[in-house]
Amino acid sequence: MPLGLVAGWSCAVCGAHVDVAESMVWRCPNATDSDRHHALQMVQAIAPLRGGDDPNPFVAFQRYLAWDSFAAANRMTEEARTAMLRKLDSDIASVAGIGMRTTPFARADELSDALGFTTDGGVWVKDETGQVGGSHKARHLVTILLHVLTAESLGVSPWTTVSERPPLAIASCGNAAFAAGVLARAVDWPLRVFVPPHADPAVLSGLRDLRAEIVECPRRDGDPAGDPCMHRFREAVAGGAIPFTVQGTENAWCLDGGRTIGWEMARQFEESVVGPPLDRLYVQVGAGTFAACVAAGIRMGGAMPKLHAVQTDSCAPLRRAWDNAARLGGSAVAASHWSECMWPWENVGDSAADGILDDETYDWLPVMRAMDGGGSPIVVGETHVDEANKLARKTTSVNASHTGTAGLAGLMATIDEIDPSERVAVVFSGVSRSS
Ligand SMILES: Cc1ncc(COP(=O)(O)O)c(C=O)c1O
Ligand SMILES: [Zn+2]
Repeated sequence: MPLGLVAGWSCAVCGAHVDVAESMVWRCPNATDSDRHHALQMVQAIAPLRGGDDPNPFVAFQRYLAWDSFAAANRMTEEARTAMLRKLDSDIASVAGIGMRTTPFARADELSDALGFTTDGGVWVKDETGQVGGSHKARHLVTILLHVLTAESLGVSPWTTVSERPPLAIASCGNAAFAAGVLARAVDWPLRVFVPPHADPAVLSGLRDLRAEIVECPRRDGDPAGDPCMHRFREAVAGGAIPFTVQGTENAWCLDGGRTIGWEMARQFEESVVGPPLDRLYVQVGAGTFAACVAAGIRMGGAMPKLHAVQTDSCAPLRRAWDNAARLGGSAVAASHWSECMWPWENVGDSAADGILDDETYDWLPVMRAMDGGGSPIVVGETHVDEANKLARKTTSVNASHTGTAGLAGLMATIDEIDPSERVAVVFSGVSRSS
């Protein structure tokens, strides 16, 4: 009988299976440098979603985490697992001032009025700006960190002493890098951050304060197409670094903790809102990891709203993939037509929502599937990106970035297509650091 709810992973493309007990397996075993078109998805038992009332979602929803099943399968007792969650959280709090927290999710009355919703309907805002690191990114990274801490403490890691720890590696110069910096510092684990040559100096100085090693990545002669930071990151991982990344295709374990936000939303809505469930969910999409996790988490709560994945017209590879897959037979066949559906956006433009300009929607497959059943991708122009942020500021007290309010831009761009009595959710996913 399995010890935990999660049995392991299976690849949506080639069907390979990875048992949950296996340590330090980050990608499909059949993925190679020349064939990255593989995507591990979680295999888990169906269980009603019940959260405890602990303010730390990783404790409240411990039994649903793949990490919990991994540690249990490697004979760590339940008490030891909870103790590890609490220890990590107090280490995080000693660096960030706060631990991982359940964030607010409530109807935004003024915003709902401004958009013409009736009192039955409205917009519910999940405010993630007060999370550790100022965005949802730490949620994804915590389960990778728990995995390596557990492997180390149980003696199933390739290193034996703390001084032999391989570095954590991430390619980012935004919220994800910052969250990685806070978490790595909390446990004194060396972190290498691969950044573009013109990264924001404020972010870099914040990372240096957290003692991260910054690796600038200009394009090199002979580099293949694509982001040079990703090339250097992948080289580091090939050399033994731990992919401390928020792309499920580079490390599936980030898909685990990311779901805590969806679990919270499902429980909070059910416990505090009378009447029908959510009709729609608008989520901003860069790598797609966030939308995949929000959707997976909410679905475990029972009622799955229509998912609208929001990108800007500066970079919209997901809508292109959706249209191409529709011609080939829909999301059900997308995995076997990866190259014909998803490839890097050729000329990425600028946007104030700069956190969703990933040229490739790495975790596109789970987002495509989550949009089945009436959802759709939405592409917004810069006017809506700006207007959404202004409206969010005017009608709520949340100091969110343009990336953080880009889901709302998707709602505003399509407001004429929905009924004013519908109930919709958005996530203000990141704080604005510029004001
Ligand atoms: C605040 C914020 N929201 C949303 C996203 C998009 O998440 P993903 O890249 O997983 O699609 C990002 C990514 O950087 C972000 O920083
Ligand atoms: Zn595979």
